Amino acid sequence: MIKRIKAFDHSAVHLGNRGLGIDYDALEPQLDTLLANMTQQQKLNELRGRQKHPIDGLYYAGGEQTLGIPAFKMVDGPRGARTGSATAFPVAIARAASFDVMLERRVGLAIGLEVAAKGGNVLLAPTINLLRHPGWGRAQETYSEDSHHMGAMAAAFVSGAQNYVLTSPKHFALNNLENTRFDLSADIGSRALHELYLPHFKRCVIEAGAASIMSAYNKVNDIYSGEQPWLLEQILRQDWGFKGFVESDWFLGTRSTAASLNAGMDIEMPAGFRYSDEKLQQALLSGELEQATIDRSVRRIVRQKMAWKLAEMTAPAPEVVECDAHRALAEDVAAQSLVLLKNNQQLLPLRDQSGLKVALVGDLAGQVNLGDRGSSFVTSTTVSTIKDGLEEVIEYGQIDFYPETEDWSALEQADVTLVVAGLTYRDEGEFIPNMQAEAEGGNLARGGDRAQLSLPQQQRQLIERAIKHSDKVVVLLQGGSAITVGDWIESIEALMMVWYPGCEGGRAVARTVFGQRNDFGRLPVTIPTGPEQLMPWDVTALTVPHDLLSGYRYLDHYQHTPAFAFGFGLSYTQFELSQGQVSRSQDGFIIEITVTNTGPVAGAAVPQLYVSAQDSAVFRVKKELKGFGRVPLAAGEQAVLEIELPDQDLYYYDEDCADWVLEQCRYQLQIGQCSQSLQPLGDWCLDGRGWQQQQ
Ligand code: BGC
Repeated sequence: MIKRIKAFDHSAVHLGNRGLGIDYDALEPQLDTLLANMTQQQKLNELRGRQKHPIDGLYYAGGEQTLGIPAFKMVDGPRGARTGSATAFPVAIARAASFDVMLERRVGLAIGLEVAAKGGNVLLAPTINLLRHPGWGRAQETYSEDSHHMGAMAAAFVSGAQNYVLTSPKHFALNNLENTRFDLSADIGSRALHELYLPHFKRCVIEAGAASIMSAYNKVNDIYSGEQPWLLEQILRQDWGFKGFVESDWFLGTRSTAASLNAGMDIEMPAGFRYSDEKLQQALLSGELEQATIDRSVRRIVRQKMAWKLAEMTAPAPEVVECDAHRALAEDVAAQSLVLLKNNQQLLPLRDQSGLKVALVGDLAGQVNLGDRGSSFVTSTTVSTIKDGLEEVIEYGQIDFYPETEDWSALEQADVTLVVAGLTYRDEGEFIPNMQAEAEGGNLARGGDRAQLSLPQQQRQLIERAIKHSDKVVVLLQGGSAITVGDWIESIEALMMVWYPGCEGGRAVARTVFGQRNDFGRLPVTIPTGPEQLMPWDVTALTVPHDLLSGYRYLDHYQHTPAFAFGFGLSYTQFELSQGQVSRSQDGFIIEITVTNTGPVAGAAVPQLYVSAQDSAVFRVKKELKGFGRVPLAAGEQAVLEIELPDQDLYYYDEDCADWVLEQCRYQLQIGQCSQSLQPLGDWCLDGRGWQQQQ
């Protein structure tokens, strides 16, 4: 029988998530009694972190032993538990390339378990700021330039992690430029906010029951995010029914006392500067802050501690940290995140045979390159570099490593040259200024946004030199976002995006290069031909306009053809998508696509569903991703992928009536294996009579 795969199986994705199905109302009587017994001092203590610096990686907040109220113990972050050694998974954008929600759920489970084993109870992840521009320094921490894709991956991560700990999706909202993050104002209207920049937060809150939310550093429409009642009260709590607590981003994330608490920002992290006893008392005395507002925040905080039975949580055995299962998962994820962008005449996979001579070029090949060294920094006891991986995996052939070769003619003797080029934490990441780097024993500022999307000159030269001396060059590109390719792309045979592939990354890359694995992912970010295809990008900007156009939506609108489109990626095999069947359910569409592996080896297809609203009375982007699924298939195998498209996903946000609207117009459904090459699935019209299929 032909196998059937659900693109997003809600019950499987959200299994075991302790944040779902909580009866908050039932806690109220107990909560009333507890709050009535708290002194004012005990209440104020709940509103802030306890110390500037973490203790063994844990940031403590609140907690009152005499009343049996435990402290929150918060731990970063998006690619693993940032405390001591832990399993360093591939960065989030790499994992997103797998387009595999069940896999991301397993990563959430593993990171949640390791955080719990380290004594933490709140995971400061996932980072889900939309990748508005690929130059964003923290691009690697997030999942996607597309909000549907981001929402599905993030909800799966949250549900996985919340089997063990609370999560805190961040940074709410519009934190998508690094260098000026403390000062800039992201300016936006309600339509772009609701349609593009918030749906993934909404999904984490409503569908995955995220227990808390971290506010952002930046302003939104000139008001600091942590003081923005529009975001924190109206949207998060009134519209979405969020029952958890909001904590600020660290240090400069809380800018005021009364204004922040009044807006609904409950906890100042990492310690009480603006929420000190003195400042809180002053604000009460001056009348800017009411006791009821303090009580409201304390109630939200303590309620979540009760709801999660935090006091009863016990830490799993420390052996789960970096256990074999997590390391194996890290390798699987890395393999599924690799994106094959070019493969002339199927040069890859290489056949490992006696006499094969592989030249390995670039010092990055031998370096531990796990990504950012800001708050998402995680490292593992051992890390498999690309060089380690290749040396381990090759059995018959020979690898010669030239980190910084002077003698380029050596490449002429090799059958193939693998160049490892790309970026490191110095080129991109959370911005760590000189002062902080010095205090930590380093001496150089690191990270920040990338003003240019091309490779640093020295990395480019490496490729160009290799091309001069070898006619079979394969480039393995490391980095956390889109890197534009130069003319060199024409002269190389193969290109693989390997991201920052985590502690088992080298092994995953090597096994893939030699064809032991064929698990390729697809691009979660467009690679443009150059910056002119993207919106203006100024890493010193203090005002940043946000609208409905970003990522492939922007390129579509201006009719730019990218170098590599969103959703694109090759495989060692090929897939065919059938015409597909579309039918109506009560409140949406069911799309069934038959996928066939027509090539010689097993692999995974990633069919993507895009919808275009036609003849609309309002502005619409050309198309939007509304569904996707990962379909692993043996050679010659077929499967049916079932994608649900709820009518709700077709709504647009009407600014005048401040509500979602399902417009009566024509909806064109298309399916494909990349956003630039789509086949029609038929048009459906909504009119006074209901839905009609167009012939
Ligand atoms: C980052 C957050 C992080 C926090 C704690 C901040 O600078 O923006 O993402 O969770 O530090 O380390």
